[in-house]
Amino acid sequence: MIALACDHGGYEIKEAVRKHLEMQHIDYKDFGTYSTQSVDYPIYAEKASRAVASKECELGIICCGTGIGVSMVANKIKGIRAAVVTNEFCAEMTRRHNNANILCMGGRVIDGKTAVKLADIFLHTPFDGGRHENRVNMISEIEAKENA
Ligand code: RB5
Repeated sequence: MIALACDHGGYEIKEAVRKHLEMQHIDYKDFGTYSTQSVDYPIYAEKASRAVASKECELGIICCGTGIGVSMVANKIKGIRAAVVTNEFCAEMTRRHNNANILCMGGRVIDGKTAVKLADIFLHTPFDGGRHENRVNMISEIEAKENA
């Protein structure tokens, strides 16, 4: 199950990704927003991020105007590793090296076709593990100290 969320700035690319998942028969849960009417991105980013953190959803894709605001929200939540991605290389590497569990994209940065391509790469690239596992564990240790 993939968690989706956006604000008005990310609505169009979220819809492009949502329709693509639909066509690919990939299950998703869409936490909104559901139009281009102005809303506050933290509300929607938090909902999708909590669904990933609780393991209700395996991965998340969240969008705003830049991808930055939603990533800031997501990375506040324990267990989330959210990455703002604008190109194919980073979409692949953030799965392989960072084991990112949320992809963040900006509707004012990339178009729907690019968002679908980046989402596909993100969803289908496994974590490399090995030395990268140690580094990701180090992120979790920092997070644990912060929440202690
Ligand atoms: C909304 O205007 C915009 O600030 C938002 O979509 C996002 O880009 C924030 O980071």
